[in-house]
Amino acid sequence: MKKGIELYSRKEIEKIRRACQVVAEVLQAVAENIKPGITPWDIEMIAREETKKRGAKPAFLNYKPPFSNVRYPAATCISINEEVVHGLPKKDRVIEEGDLVSVDFGAIIDGYAGDSAITVAVGEIDADKKRLMEATKTALNRAVEMARAGNWLSDIVEAIHSTAEEYGVYPVLKYGGHGIGKKVHEEPFVPNNRKDLGKKNVKLRQGMVIAIEPMFSLGTEETVYDGDGWTVKTKDGSPAAHFEHTVAITKEGPLVLTEI
Ligand code: MF3
Ligand code: CO
Repeated sequence: MKKGIELYSRKEIEKIRRACQVVAEVLQAVAENIKPGITPWDIEMIAREETKKRGAKPAFLNYKPPFSNVRYPAATCISINEEVVHGLPKKDRVIEEGDLVSVDFGAIIDGYAGDSAITVAVGEIDADKKRLMEATKTALNRAVEMARAGNWLSDIVEAIHSTAEEYGVYPVLKYGGHGIGKKVHEEPFVPNNRKDLGKKNVKLRQGMVIAIEPMFSLGTEETVYDGDGWTVKTKDGSPAAHFEHTVAITKEGPLVLTEI
C-alpha cells in the first residue's frame, strides 16, 4: 500500500462497479427531472428514492469528508451557475431556464462506493455556458484516456488543465478528484489545476480506482465559500461546470465504472 493508495482486485472492482452503476442510474433519473420550476431539494428527494429502490445507500448523507469537521447533511451536492461544487440542495431556490445545474452523487453498496457528477443545461443556455460545458466534458474524457498503468498522475492533470486553456476557461484551484473504493475519499488527490500537483506526483498502477472530476469556470481559478458552510462558488461570480467519473485502471486500460 504505497503512499496509502489502495490497489483493488478484479473482484473488488466489480463491487465498486455495482455501486457506480447505481450512481449512474440515479443521475440519469435525476437529469430527466431537471426542468424550470424544480427545486434542488426536489432533486435530492428523487435521488434518495432512486437509491433506495436499488438497495443502495447514499454515500454523502451524514458523511464527514476529510476536508470538513462536520457531516454533510444531504445525499446530493447541487451546484447552480456560479456555484462550483458541494452545493447544499436548497428548498427555497427554484431552477430556471438558462441555468447550469451540477449534480454530484455517490452511493454505497456492499461496502464499496461510487461517485459521479453531471452538469445539466436547463433549456437554452448561452454560448459561453455551452463552451464551458463542452470544455469540462472534453477534459474528463481526455483525462480518462490517461488513466493507464505506467502513466503518471501528472498526465491526468495535464490533460485537464490544457483542455481548459484550449477552451479559454479556468480549472479551479484546490478541488479535484480522489481515490475511491472502500471509502469515498482515498489517496491520491487528483488535481484539476497544475498548481495543485506540487510534489505529489505518483505513477498510476493497475488496480487503482480514481474519481476524476474537472471543475471549470468561465472567469477565474479562485473560489470562495458561500454562507452555508459547504457551497463553493467562483470568486468572480462567473458560471462553473463539473463532470465526474469513477475510473478503474485495469490491464486493458481505463474502465469507466459510472457509465450505464
Ligand atoms: N463528489 C464529492 C467530492 O468528491 C463528494 C462530496 S462529499 C460531501 O468532493 F460530503 F461533501 F458531500
Ligand atoms: Co468525487
